[in-house]
Amino acid sequence: MGLHKIIVITIFISFLSNIESTRPPFSCDTYNPDTIKFKFCNFSLPVDQRVDDLILRLNLDEKISQLGNTAPAIPRLNIPAYEWWSEALHGLSTEGLGLFLNRSIKGATQFPQIILTASTFDENLWYRIAQAIAREARAAYNAGELKGMTFWAPNVNILRDPRWGRAQETAGEDPMMVGKYAVAYVRGLQGDSFEGGKLKNGNLQASAGCKHLAAQDLDYWNGHHRFTFNAQVTPQDMADSFQPPFKTCVEEGKATSLMCAYSRLNGVSNCANYDLLTTTARGQWGFNGYIVSDCDSVRVMNDSHGYTAEDAIAASIKAGMDVNCGSFVQNYTRLALQAKKLQESDIDRALRNSFSIRMRLGLFNGDPRKQEYGDISPAEICRQEHQDLALEAARNGIVLLKNSAKLLPLSKIKTISLAIIGPKANDSELLLGNYAGVPCKNVSLLQGFQRDVKSIGYHPGCNFVNCTSAAIDEAVDIAKKAQHVVLVMGLDQNVERENWDRVDLGLPGQQEILIKAVAEAAVKPVIVVLVSGGPIDISFAKDNPKIGGILWIGYPGEGGSAALTQIIFGEHNPGGRLPVTWYPKEYMKIPMTDMNMRPNSSTGYPGRTYRFYKGPKVYKFGYGLSYTTYAYNITSVSPNKLYFNYQISDKTSKNDSLHNIAVSKFGSEVCNKAKISVNVVVKNKGEMAGKHPVLLFLRPSKVKDDEVPRKQLIGFKSVGLGAGEKSQIEFIVSPCEHFTRANKYGVSVIDEGKYYLVVGDKKKSVTVSI
Ligand SMILES: *[C@@H]1O[C@H](CO)[C@@H](O)[C@H](O)[C@H]1NC(C)=O
Ligand SMILES: *[C@@H]1O[C@H](CO)[C@@H](O)[C@H](O)[C@H]1NC(C)=O
Ligand SMILES: *[C@@H]1O[C@H](CO)[C@@H](O)[C@H](O)[C@H]1NC(C)=O
Ligand SMILES: *[C@@H]1O[C@H](CO)[C@@H](O)[C@H](O)[C@H]1NC(C)=O
Ligand SMILES: *[C@@H]1O[C@H](CO)[C@@H](O)[C@H](O)[C@H]1NC(C)=O
Ligand SMILES: *[C@@H]1O[C@H](CO)[C@@H](O)[C@H](O)[C@H]1NC(C)=O
Ligand SMILES: *[C@@H]1O[C@H](CO)[C@@H](O)[C@H](O)[C@H]1NC(C)=O
Ligand SMILES: *[C@@H]1O[C@H](CO)[C@@H](O)[C@H](O)[C@H]1NC(C)=O
Ligand SMILES: *[C@@H]1O[C@H](CO)[C@@H](O)[C@H](O)[C@H]1NC(C)=O
Ligand SMILES: *[C@@H]1O[C@H](CO)[C@@H](O)[C@H](O)[C@H]1NC(C)=O
Repeated sequence: MGLHKIIVITIFISFLSNIESTRPPFSCDTYNPDTIKFKFCNFSLPVDQRVDDLILRLNLDEKISQLGNTAPAIPRLNIPAYEWWSEALHGLSTEGLGLFLNRSIKGATQFPQIILTASTFDENLWYRIAQAIAREARAAYNAGELKGMTFWAPNVNILRDPRWGRAQETAGEDPMMVGKYAVAYVRGLQGDSFEGGKLKNGNLQASAGCKHLAAQDLDYWNGHHRFTFNAQVTPQDMADSFQPPFKTCVEEGKATSLMCAYSRLNGVSNCANYDLLTTTARGQWGFNGYIVSDCDSVRVMNDSHGYTAEDAIAASIKAGMDVNCGSFVQNYTRLALQAKKLQESDIDRALRNSFSIRMRLGLFNGDPRKQEYGDISPAEICRQEHQDLALEAARNGIVLLKNSAKLLPLSKIKTISLAIIGPKANDSELLLGNYAGVPCKNVSLLQGFQRDVKSIGYHPGCNFVNCTSAAIDEAVDIAKKAQHVVLVMGLDQNVERENWDRVDLGLPGQQEILIKAVAEAAVKPVIVVLVSGGPIDISFAKDNPKIGGILWIGYPGEGGSAALTQIIFGEHNPGGRLPVTWYPKEYMKIPMTDMNMRPNSSTGYPGRTYRFYKGPKVYKFGYGLSYTTYAYNITSVSPNKLYFNYQISDKTSKNDSLHNIAVSKFGSEVCNKAKISVNVVVKNKGEMAGKHPVLLFLRPSKVKDDEVPRKQLIGFKSVGLGAGEKSQIEFIVSPCEHFTRANKYGVSVIDEGKYYLVVGDKKKSVTVSI
């Protein structure tokens, strides 16, 4: 064969593969008369009628083939393959099977890991990030580089225990806040408006889903694995800690998927929990979407929960699971049918849910490039606005934990030499966290400083982040020669990740020894930058006068290094606040497996999160400094007395030591009317503009009982204020929502008595009579 021929063939093949790779997969091609005749392709019919028609046309093998995340094509109906598994926790990710970012699209915007984005307490920012991710997703789909528009994010399990390897993925420990995060993310991703209600016809830009239902927040700790863990949760904790984010995600966010967890909940495998998946999620919350198993959780039920293959499949599909991540259900469903444990109608039900979503995504309406989101092109990916947003999120999330003697900000002009010490200070990947994709740009923290400061001395200081050995002399040596020292310490994915919980709360290995030695030798007090998802006990640094500044930067994403230098050099005023309690090391005495939120005085169990834990803290929930100070006044609370004149017989005082009433007794009319307006004036008393999240808490005047939260976040708003500027903000508080807690039976109740509404150091009372 001559060279000429080879070139021609090569060109022809690359032309073919080009067509292959640029055409997005879709059904019901309007130019194909064989396809468009099908009733399921008639765009003017409602989705449920189209889905029914489609399912009638499928034979049993085809039906079974569609029960796994990798759903093959059905060529005779011109239905292409579909990949259900894509991830987008904080940007398009390569963790799923739908996207690889290794063809013509080589990267996508990587926003900060959620725990840092949460620290902004800025719902609108959360929403805008999800909107940007969805546009990048549509762009990749339109370009034929993404094999599905269904994303398994956000993770809405509350951060119950600080050791959780997936702490980084969460919006923190407060159930109300995690719920708000879920709503903002889901609305942004699915194409809804910020306020919700825009997606009236049910069409979706992308599909988002909340995971992991329910109470799955232990991965692998001290021999306990999520595959086999049986979470023992009281009805009370279930109702007011573990379930609320899922409920809000579905009811307000209108999420179109839920993922059932590997673990068991009070003895029942989550994916086989009919009460949870069907009675509660679909029935009570009105969930309208598909339920997917965590990856291989049905196989895990067969391997570790005592089910046969047939029983695991029958139990999960009958409980309400629609798509199995993995191939186990595709492989063994025939057995379940033969054993008569499962009926074909059960499969039809599951397929109705899954195909409805594919239709609502517009993937059965002909070429998606000719539809609503069709003009979103690859130019959308990594565009400047998205880069700016990633930077904004990192800047507003970073938390200033210590700034003694106003060491920070450093003067950019006067700082001519810096020492940067840290094992991963020059690793840009460190900044991404888990569930990441390939970023648009790679800039390490060291490279960020190198842009701003001429003379930089750098030393890793430790062999690895776990710091089993530290190069103290070398680090001290470069520290002594520099005007200022920045130590980049903390954790990485080898210390905390999926399938890997932490075993202690301190800094790994010899990091603490290294920090102390460097701080002792340095010319001026040093700056410690902590990279981590979960909290770290850094009490030693808090009290050490040689450590002048501490900044927690989470995993700040691809804008992280610019965000950090802008803060250190005073071009941005930090305003992030911790979304999780930072506990002392002694907290590790309690087993991670103890799911109780509430303390128990007879055992000395301290309880969990700021709502119940009253022991010592390194930093409390909501802590965070800035370069200025803010002052508050609560200017009005109206009304400040609530009377619900209920009959004694309705009150549940017999069930509880307290006088209270079930909220359900009020009915929605009373609840809708009972609203309290709380006005707060915030003033920036300093000389630097800043963005400041105002947190409104509710606190009973006397906590008589461990069952009652000591404090609850009931509202938050992020306000931008110029130097010396004042602003008034209003919170609308709904007693039926915000003054409640669950009783022992999991019933939502309001306790009678006096409460305080608290903002910073200010409080105003409200009394509730029932
Ligand atoms: C599509 O459905 C509409 C509404 O039922 C009907 O009027 C129309 O004839 C159908 N189109 C085709 C091509 O069958
Ligand atoms: C992209 O990555 C995927 C998964 O690693 C691999 O299967 C595929 O061959 C890669 N494609 C290219 C063009 O490198
Ligand atoms: C898994 O299922 C198979 C087939 O139903 C059964 O034979 C096997 O014992 C099950 N495995 C376990 C560990 O229970
Ligand atoms: C299902 O079958 C496929 C093809 O035989 C195989 O590759 C896969 O490992 C099987 N999956 C499970 C969970 O058994
Ligand atoms: C930092 O990393 C970059 C990219 O890997 C490399 O080019 C550079 O030499 C490194 N800098 C130092 C001081 O090691
Ligand atoms: C960033 O780093 C990743 C991982 O090393 C690499 O795949 C990617 O090409 C880099 N991106 C750029 C823009 O250099
Ligand atoms: C420390 O981390 C490195 C790589 O990050 C790993 O190879 C090593 O096994 C770890 N050592 C310990 C004691 O955990
Ligand atoms: C506290 O612990 C004791 C001893 O384990 C147990 O009997 C009791 O039920 C617990 N109390 C609560 C409120 O959970
Ligand atoms: C709060 O009220 C006090 C008393 O009226 C006043 O002196 C102070 O300036 C007010 N502070 C703010 C932030 O409005
Ligand atoms: C009161 O207690 C009974 C059990 O004694 C329980 O069934 C009922 O649900 C409780 N009612 C409320 C409102 O908590």
